[in-house]
Amino acid sequence: MVDLIVSGSSCQVLSKEISDELNIELAMVESGRFPDGELYLRVDSDIKGRDVAIVQSTSKHQDSNLFELLSLLETIKREGAREVTAVVPYFGYGRQDRSFAQGEAVTSRVIAELISKYADKFISLNLHKSTILDFFDIEAIEGDVTPAIAEYYSTFGVKDAVIISPDKGASGLAKNLGKRLKCEYDYLEKKRIGPGRVKIMPSNINLKGKNVIIYDDIIDSGGSISEAVKLLHKQGAENILTACIHPVLPNNAITRLFTSGVVDLVGTNTIPSQISFITVAEIISKMLKSITHD
Ligand code: R5P
Repeated sequence: MVDLIVSGSSCQVLSKEISDELNIELAMVESGRFPDGELYLRVDSDIKGRDVAIVQSTSKHQDSNLFELLSLLETIKREGAREVTAVVPYFGYGRQDRSFAQGEAVTSRVIAELISKYADKFISLNLHKSTILDFFDIEAIEGDVTPAIAEYYSTFGVKDAVIISPDKGASGLAKNLGKRLKCEYDYLEKKRIGPGRVKIMPSNINLKGKNVIIYDDIIDSGGSISEAVKLLHKQGAENILTACIHPVLPNNAITRLFTSGVVDLVGTNTIPSQISFITVAEIISKMLKSITHD
């Protein structure tokens, strides 16, 4: 069983919540930058013989967070940990999981191979595609946060809503959430016409006067959701609420979503953000308890 949590800089509150859930030590990590900008790290805990989980999302700034994760993994391993688990609640670069055009880098694979070099196990939540797990050479598992999203809406008292995913790729999420909330679900057809620009085709469900929850794995620029909102309003939807697992939300994405007509916006703390009202600490703690140790 994991007995030490080490937090990367991107997930400090979540790491504390996980250490509380599991009632185990949270390590202090000294970190800073040398005058030339290079990273300095030192883990200030006894590591030898322990089972350690390092929690770090590879969200913005992705390359820097990734390098920090790899450096922490290397340090913990070299200091004699018995087993090291890389917990990456949001796996950045997940959308580049194959070569879409000749010569393109498959960055998901590169990251998986680098993590596999230093970690014994890998845990993540709602990867953009589960096939990313195949890129790992170590035991790699993926959890689903939909139960926590369903609990949020149940507590909030949202009933009789229609759950809609803004594209076919996320239709499984809408189905899962719909089943949990006992609501109808559907997905929209999305065509990307440029960065942050998409064209969306209508839903088959009658939305007149209904509340709609749009549910997606990632909200990035907010382009997909704001196009979906316009269309769903045209189809007669009343209140449109939006949930995502990974709130990437750069620049003014939140304002873009509210001004498009979204009345409630929520995400999880796989990426700390202004809308990360749902914690994934319990889900990750359960996954850490369930992984087998050799
Ligand atoms: C794409 O396949 C993802 O599931 C999201 O739909 C996408 O990343 C959202 O991006 P944006 O918010 O920029 O439209």
